Amino acid sequence: MVTTSDYSFKLIMLGASGVGKTCIVQRFCNDVFEGPAHKTTLGFDFLSKQTVHKDKRVDLEVWDTAGQEQYRAVTKMYYKDVHGVILVYDITDKESFETAKFWLDDLDMHGSKMEERVLVGNKLDINERRAVTLYDAKKFAAERKLEWSECSAKSGDNVNEMFDKLIDRIVERYKSSAEFRNLFSRSTVVSVGPPISEADAMHRSQGYKLHKERIKKKSGCC
Ligand code: GTP
Ligand code: MG
Repeated sequence: MVTTSDYSFKLIMLGASGVGKTCIVQRFCNDVFEGPAHKTTLGFDFLSKQTVHKDKRVDLEVWDTAGQEQYRAVTKMYYKDVHGVILVYDITDKESFETAKFWLDDLDMHGSKMEERVLVGNKLDINERRAVTLYDAKKFAAERKLEWSECSAKSGDNVNEMFDKLIDRIVERYKSSAEFRNLFSRSTVVSVGPPISEADAMHRSQGYKLHKERIKKKSGCC
């Protein structure tokens, strides 16, 4: 049965390859963790989920991007059309934290500057291998005025809570800012952006088809 939603939001996952973006989305949408056999994302994937937030039905489209460097130009094409950004680093990998800073600078340059952002340290289940200190993460988040949290896609700790907080802030912004509402009432992202390679175009259309299928079947989660 197709149900109408009160809100429809687009979110994008950003961050270095291997930080666990796909696993976080899979945990949130399907409540699964695929483990080390999990494959790197090529281009991007779409996932959708219908959720209830404070008695309102919310349709979410989550764009899971590829962290590999060769896809950065493709990823940039989606910045302007999202309500929320989830910027992920791996708490056991200092370099991924530095890469998160790069994404943030890039977002400042090419994004709409309207989207809500959250910085997320993943892999909290292996806290004993921590390389990014709480102090550094909190300091950076405060400097850049970012919401910040840590989670584990593997155990599921704090994943739903992180999404909930982000949705909450997007809903508040949506209700209070006409500029924010109007920004996203224009075209969908699928029709914008510079030319892309054939391989990327193929992946993109496959991702979109998958997304459409999921939208059609939408009954509850994903
Ligand atoms: P790209 O698609 O290449 O950008 O990577 P990604 O950020 O999507 O990472 P992905 O979700 O594919 O996860 C990379 C690896 O980290 C996989 O081997 C996962 O099993 C592992 N992983 C992801 N999340 C967690 C977590 O919370 N804890 C632990 N211990 N491992 C995780
Ligand atoms: Mg991935």
